[in-house]
Amino acid sequence: MNKKLIAGMLGLGLLGTAGSALASDAHTRIIASTCLSCHGADGKSKSAMPSLAGIDKTYFVTQMKAFKSGQRPASVMHRHAPGYTDQEFEKMGEYFAAMK
Ligand code: HEC
Repeated sequence: MNKKLIAGMLGLGLLGTAGSALASDAHTRIIASTCLSCHGADGKSKSAMPSLAGIDKTYFVTQMKAFKSGQRPASVMHRHAPGYTDQEFEKMGEYFAAMK
């Protein structure tokens, strides 16, 4: 592979990152990346895990609060949700809702 091609591919990668950054900030992107290991790298799950890409923001925030409070029974999400604030839920909701 020649250097120009590699540089071009890197450029595309950076553009992709900048595109999703429009919906959110670096902090939210870092949090979201920890969720996507289970929920599909592009937010579209290929397993039993639900997809997050394009999720309704209000639905997302409601579910995260329910996991946090224990109101919604879960196998793993009740362990993830308590680490975040309501404000972070809002930001994450915007981020995932904007994912295509
Ligand atoms: C270890 C794998 C794993 C990780 C990491 C993970 N999730 Fe989940 N998620 C699940 C599973 C499994 C469910 C189904 C509910 C359950 O059993 O916990 C779920 C359910 C959900 C739901 C409900 C979706 C729906 O359609 O009702 C939301 C929202 C969600 N997760 C968001 C997140 C967010 C945000 C993060 C990162 C902070 C995250 N998840 C990290 C595995 C994971």
